[in-house]
Amino acid sequence: MRVLDVGSGAGDVALLVAELVGPTGQVVGVDTNAQILEVARSRVQAAGWTNIVFSAGEIGTAALDGLFDAVVRRFVLPFVGNRVEVLQTCIARLRPGGLVFFRSTMCRLSIGRCQRVHFWISGAAG
Ligand SMILES: C[S@@+](CC[C@H](N)C(=O)[O-])C[C@H]1O[C@@H](n2cnc3c(N)ncnc32)[C@H](O)[C@@H]1O
Repeated sequence: MRVLDVGSGAGDVALLVAELVGPTGQVVGVDTNAQILEVARSRVQAAGWTNIVFSAGEIGTAALDGLFDAVVRRFVLPFVGNRVEVLQTCIARLRPGGLVFFRSTMCRLSIGRCQRVHFWISGAAG
């Protein structure tokens, strides 16, 4: 499974998603801040993952190959201008039937909701 992490920052979400998709999956992080991506790359290397890559750029214009099974985004939406446009851009990166999962509030997800996302990503859901 390929997952796109938009506004990946220092790589927290990419590292979590890598645990979910496993070594046969791939996580691609994109962020406008090239410096924070250097931090993310160091953390990924220290953690031993070889299937997480990062690309510097704005989600609308970043050079990304292929489509994704899921687009995730945590704590980014409040920082973007046209949210509808950004959402449409993310959906355009998805394969048919793919999943968009945004988390933008500081509240915690319920265990049940986290489990549903985990089941979906791991292929356990129908
Ligand atoms: C609050 S940080 C969240 C980082 C990460 N998602 C997390 O949860 O730890 C927001 C990040 O979004 C990035 N960002 C903001 N607008 C963006 C855009 N249009 N395209 C890509 N990255 C963006 C910022 O550079 C920043 O690293």
